[in-house]
Amino acid sequence: MTTQQLCLPTVYLNGNFLPIEEAKISPLDRGFIFGDGVYEVIPFYAGRGLRMREHLRRLQRSMNELAIENPYAIEHWESTITALIERNGGGNVGVYIQVTRGVAKRDFPPPKGLTQTVFMMVNPLATPKPEIYAKGISCISLDDNRWLKCHIKSVALLGAVLLKHESNQGGFDEAVLFRDGYLTESSASNIAAVKSGIILCPPMDNLILPGITYELMIELARKNSMPLEIRRVARKEVKKADELWIMSSTKEVAPIVLLDDKPIGTGQPGPVFKQMYQHFQDYKRSLSAVSAAAE
Ligand code: PDD
Repeated sequence: MTTQQLCLPTVYLNGNFLPIEEAKISPLDRGFIFGDGVYEVIPFYAGRGLRMREHLRRLQRSMNELAIENPYAIEHWESTITALIERNGGGNVGVYIQVTRGVAKRDFPPPKGLTQTVFMMVNPLATPKPEIYAKGISCISLDDNRWLKCHIKSVALLGAVLLKHESNQGGFDEAVLFRDGYLTESSASNIAAVKSGIILCPPMDNLILPGITYELMIELARKNSMPLEIRRVARKEVKKADELWIMSSTKEVAPIVLLDDKPIGTGQPGPVFKQMYQHFQDYKRSLSAVSAAAE
């Protein structure tokens, strides 16, 4: 694989913009040794961030959970991200940010006073192709065997990697995860169900990542008077749902039409999904209109 395919050419590492080939990190970095770090993925459309502030606030919360000091003020994050996108030619991109505790002798207790490692790269935003929104995706139910701090956007993602791998090995696009008989989320996305016109949303507790797209979807539903309940959703309710949606910064909101080879509802993207999809696209358009007016 060439580095061109790994990410767009210019990355950011510890204060410098440089070609990806020149970006070097110590093997003793605690991110490499222990997965001791956090990350974010922020979508940009035509150079305009979708909820960048919210992503940066979540990054702060993740760092708080790990007692890693945030090396930058929010304005510094924003200007550095903007500069990195510009250096890579703008467009529709996903910005990946990673902050680790830093480099130290390998020892479990986190030492104090390390210098955090800050890495950022930019990738073309691979939102689903139109046929995904038109036809939907197929998923498998799996037991959520990740740790109990899924609200932290930690780089220690082996649980999610193995679940995603298992779903792909079985010929499915994604996994729908259940813990103790209740819906949690997917390996790298949130999930909501729809029954009798009501959007059913698992609560944002320690068992799921509080997705920025998920929060936006809830906000759009409320703004547009779409009935919604935030509560635990049992496995049998999921199986009998009329619709099932998957959401993330890279997937936006997409319909799941098959679960364990059985149709969800009619086996087609449902009417509530179509309404939400429209609100989401309108929101994206309003973003560029607001930014354009401010320029
Ligand atoms: N994943 N749940 C999990 C476990 C996730 O990893 C993600 C995001 C989400 C959705 O969050 P958001 O709407 O803020 O993107 C939910 C990103 C895209 C990733 O790891 O690449």
